[in-house]
Amino acid sequence: MTAPTFDPTGLEPLTATDEQRAESPLARTPDGTWVVLGHPEAIAVATDHESFSSAVSRFLQVPNGMDGEEHAAFRAVTDPFFASERMAALEPTVRAVAAELVEELMADVGAAGTEIDAVAALGAVFAVRAQTAWLGWPTALEPELLQWMIDNHEASRSRDLSRTTEVAERFDTLIRSVVAPRRALGADAPEDPTTELMRVQVKLPDPEILGSTQRALREEEIVSILRNWTGGDLGSIALCTGVLLTALADAPALTERLRHGTFTEAAAIVDELLRIDDPFVSNRRVTTCPVSLAGHQIGAGERVLIHWTSANRDERVFADPNRFDEQAHGAQNLVYGIGKHICPGRPLATLELVVALQELLAVADVHPAETVGEREVAPVGGWAHAPVVLTPRS
Ligand code: HEM
Repeated sequence: MTAPTFDPTGLEPLTATDEQRAESPLARTPDGTWVVLGHPEAIAVATDHESFSSAVSRFLQVPNGMDGEEHAAFRAVTDPFFASERMAALEPTVRAVAAELVEELMADVGAAGTEIDAVAALGAVFAVRAQTAWLGWPTALEPELLQWMIDNHEASRSRDLSRTTEVAERFDTLIRSVVAPRRALGADAPEDPTTELMRVQVKLPDPEILGSTQRALREEEIVSILRNWTGGDLGSIALCTGVLLTALADAPALTERLRHGTFTEAAAIVDELLRIDDPFVSNRRVTTCPVSLAGHQIGAGERVLIHWTSANRDERVFADPNRFDEQAHGAQNLVYGIGKHICPGRPLATLELVVALQELLAVADVHPAETVGEREVAPVGGWAHAPVVLTPRS
């Protein structure tokens, strides 16, 4: 059986995969990458860590580019940063950041309402401020981080390797500028997650002694982890904000539930809205051995793309993918992935998104805008520009 050819380049991921998935849950790009569009197939790939390796990049990626024991060792070091008690302690800080930004936005909003781009005006700024507040980074970095988000986005859209490399190097320099002063301060460095990361010990398997050795993280590992916690995440939070506000502008009853519901109810609503329009589109794998998937034989060493946006809309699991039902769909939601690489930052992402919505909806109503929004194209999803109108709540 030959897999249908599907080239997602430059296409709006949601509509394009809705059409393609109707033909087959597995497709192939013209350059031979397998694109996993179906929900059961995405689970099969993401949970078979032996056959599908995450070591897809020639660059060090901690922990996402790692497999097996090495991956587990680094997850053991980084997962505690997102523990529930830590998130509870962080909540007032995130809430203060959200409240301040909402106040700034609403200062310009008259009774007739004002149109904003939910991605640029709210999502991107909030993401940068919330992440820097969490990590203890200087607020003066905000303009540089915002500009970096724009450049990074343009570079990934261009698919020009020299541009993406330049943007990645610029980000590493920025991270090193945060790490270096902490090194110089030693024991006097501020107590925050960045300093803590510089002090943790990783316990790695050591075949020479048939056991494990414990050591501090190397500079390049710290930089890689911090890059994951910021670079990768800032864009996701911004895009998620665009998806959420665009959906809520057309859903007043849901908006009311978010306004008055508990944190857990709000989190379930957010997850379901992101399932319907998942802006975190895909992740890569490479096969380690021949493997069979959806009736196709995949050879060893082949590239595979898990398409979360498509899997989250598979009609075999979600009969009508656009129907909102957080109770029925929650257990099958793949927005944060599945398997050993499941998103460790989920509690933080949820905290940020729920708190941002709660703070905004406490003082504002959200309405559809007359300006037509612009959808993103692969490799990201959601909205490039998400115009909505804010009016003050009396
Ligand atoms: C805003 C919404 C977010 C979404 C939709 C999202 C989604 C995902 C998904 C689907 C994966 C699985 C990757 C795979 O299987 O290869 C993942 C992994 C990861 N995410 Fe997130 N994420 C979000 C926010 C965050 C945040 C806030 C952080 C940290 C601050 C974070 C850090 C990571 C890391 C480090 C990994 C790699 C884990 C591993 O390979 O073991 N993410 N994320």
